Amino acid sequence: MVVGTQARSVDLVVIGSGPGGYVAAIRAAELGQKVVIVERDFIGGVCLNVGCIPSKALINAGHAYHAQVHDTATIMGVHSNGATLNWEETQKWKNEKVVKTLTGGIEMLLKKRKIEILRGEARFNDNQVINVIEGENSHLLEFKSCIIATGSRPIEIPNFKFTGRLVNSTGALNLPEVPKHLVIIGGGVIGSELAGAYANLGAKVTILEGLPHILNGFDKEMIDVAAAEFQEKGVEIITSAIAKKAEQSTENVAITYEANGVEETITADYCLVSVGRKPNTDEIGLNNTDVKLTDRGQIIVNDRQQTSVSHIYAIGDVVAGPMLAHKASYEAKVAAANIAGEDVLNCAVAIPAVAYCDPELATMGETPESAKEKGLKVMIAKFPFAANGRAITMNATRGFIRIVSDKETKVIIGAQIVGPGASDLISEFALAIENGLTSEDISLTVHPHPTLGEAIMDTSELADGLPIHI
Ligand code: FAD
Ligand code: NAI
Repeated sequence: MVVGTQARSVDLVVIGSGPGGYVAAIRAAELGQKVVIVERDFIGGVCLNVGCIPSKALINAGHAYHAQVHDTATIMGVHSNGATLNWEETQKWKNEKVVKTLTGGIEMLLKKRKIEILRGEARFNDNQVINVIEGENSHLLEFKSCIIATGSRPIEIPNFKFTGRLVNSTGALNLPEVPKHLVIIGGGVIGSELAGAYANLGAKVTILEGLPHILNGFDKEMIDVAAAEFQEKGVEIITSAIAKKAEQSTENVAITYEANGVEETITADYCLVSVGRKPNTDEIGLNNTDVKLTDRGQIIVNDRQQTSVSHIYAIGDVVAGPMLAHKASYEAKVAAANIAGEDVLNCAVAIPAVAYCDPELATMGETPESAKEKGLKVMIAKFPFAANGRAITMNATRGFIRIVSDKETKVIIGAQIVGPGASDLISEFALAIENGLTSEDISLTVHPHPTLGEAIMDTSELADGLPIHI
């Protein structure tokens, strides 16, 4: 190995190039920092390479295939003449047209900002120096500031080592074929999104969830809408089921689980284990620094994203909070601004969360239950997509929009959407909640017609006690 003994001095080193790291690097460069970004794997991190983006590509391919196979537009007089799936082409489109376009774009953005991209695995030597190892080479970098954005990886449970037909989310996105039967252990966001995608692509899917409900970040009324659609697609959901062991052969994998005190075994051709993710903080030499961790391995930060070593910052999946790309990017901008000498606090009022199921679920801020638990006096308004003109023209009327607002001031403190376009519609509530807007502010805003967005105006009018369309 060629070891650089002389440490090179840099302003800012960012470790990891996911939606945390690359955004931090670009913003810091815009604010005048000389930046080096270190990446051991692929530019774009989990999100662009093996997370948000490829999963949404498969979900969309699933929608396209399902619509043709099941002739879902016959009600509109549109009949398809059967459909075939060329899985190799689907994978090629996902990898080369979707992922590569985006990761190539990010690499170009980094280069345009004169950010140095250093390939290799970073490890802290102490509070000032990291060692970047790539194959036979190693570079020592002495930094004025550092941002840790090393993300997270899938949790492996005992007796379910990721190998062969037992896969994690990365494996599930890159299966060599559409499984005839896919078993998914863990019905959280990854499990539910990929269950929908593979069911639409023609697989039989069984979800084994340890808790009494799937999609536990969402409330029961929302989950019921997604569960009804899963049932229609033949997705089997077994709740309160604890996965015990797996036995693989060349042909299949047998999964033994326990539900309600009874042990059962199901055989499938693949099994996805998606039981959560853990932060990548254990192999980066933090024990050589004074950076403090929680007992769950998350890096402790203040509201400027500073760790217990004031010139080392941490963002994204390595710190507390939801493991979401947009949360990582928000924290990235906070960290970069502070490093560049600005005084910026992480003061996001609420972080939206979306599950790209059929239909989509989106939530942010308070729910009726959380408001009740906190003793808040709230107004709950719920408007069904069945009463929205655009949803009817789309033949997509399942679901609702719900607003949780302060009873006296009408300030919106939470919103939930389950239905068509929920992932895009939630942004109007993000703007409202972040800026302390009231339901009246939304009802008095002219919304274009006919749109799904009008249902947000309708829900607000309902909250104001002046509904037109219900
Ligand atoms: P990451 O994206 O994990 O990036 C960290 C980077 O650091 C990686 O590239 C890694 O190689 C690199 N790295 C780690 N250690 C080192 C080291 N020692 N040296 C050098 N480099 C290192 N979130 C959403 O908001 N919406 C979604 O739709 C969504 N879908 C998802 C679907 C799946 C299947 C998965 C797995 C996740 C999904 N997520 C989604 C979560 C999202 O991907 C993460 O929250 C997000 O990527 C976190 O960003 P990050 O920058 O913190 O870390
Ligand atoms: P998750 O925390 O969402 O769900 C894990 C599920 O597995 C939980 O329901 C849990 O009860 C269950 N579980 C745990 N151990 C089990 C066992 N032994 N047997 C059966 N069930 C068990 O984690 P997931 O789905 O792995 O996703 C990880 C993270 O990635 C999420 O926290 C999310 O933030 C992020 N993500 C976000 C997406 C989005 O924003 N649309 C999409 C996909 C992932």
